[in-house]
Amino acid sequence: MNIPAKIFTENGQLIIKLPLTNPTGKIRVKRRSKTSNYGIPIATRKISFTNEDYVEWQISYATQNPPKTSKVKDIIINNEQIGFELTKLLYEGSILGILSTEDFNEMEKFIKDVQDKDTLEENEKIVRENKMQEIKGGFKKFEEKTPVFIKKNDEKGYFVEIILKHKQRAVGLQAMVHLCIYIEKLVDENGKSLIGRTATTREFGKIEINSENKELIKDVVKAFALASQVHKRDILSILRQVKEKCKLK
Ligand code: ADE
Repeated sequence: MNIPAKIFTENGQLIIKLPLTNPTGKIRVKRRSKTSNYGIPIATRKISFTNEDYVEWQISYATQNPPKTSKVKDIIINNEQIGFELTKLLYEGSILGILSTEDFNEMEKFIKDVQDKDTLEENEKIVRENKMQEIKGGFKKFEEKTPVFIKKNDEKGYFVEIILKHKQRAVGLQAMVHLCIYIEKLVDENGKSLIGRTATTREFGKIEINSENKELIKDVVKAFALASQVHKRDILSILRQVKEKCKLK
């Protein structure tokens, strides 16, 4: 099951609503384990939210069949994929004046400065390190090292991760972009904090994007520009289309 994010404007505000009870979807609540430093999904209907918890969102920008809850029908890439999620944040952010022409120019410049040697899918590796240890039965221990790139913004309560994995049905690596937002920064239907209680059935947490935290959108754009050559090209095309539609110079 995958419950998508809802992105919309309300009274001149840009709002994201994220599902809190969908541990098998693209948006999951996780808690960082102190011993492994690894985020583990938590059962939010049974366990109360703490300040350690965050929503991990495998955010996208275009797909053939986007959910209505965050679709931008006029932005099309590769002749078949319709904009949604990050594209909607860019589009509505621009219309509301949260993202300025300077913000778009800065993102475009960043993307253009990303060289062939900088993109992670094409240049990173997953390696196996020999631990020089043998266990019963003649098995030797190796450790697999997977590169993860993290940009933290503790003040605004989010971080962006780029994780590399082996492609499932092909040769090579795949970079996954995750936008992670601390539960602390979300509010419930009544505008109250979620900390200290469990989630209700199919509950969503809400965050407003404004000029204070718009860096979050820019960091996700930068992450996609670095993830791979394909993502870099796609995201540049989306930025240009948003600028064109919003008549930014
Ligand atoms: N394609 C669509 N969403 C993605 C994401 N979050 N990371 C990498 N590739 C994607």
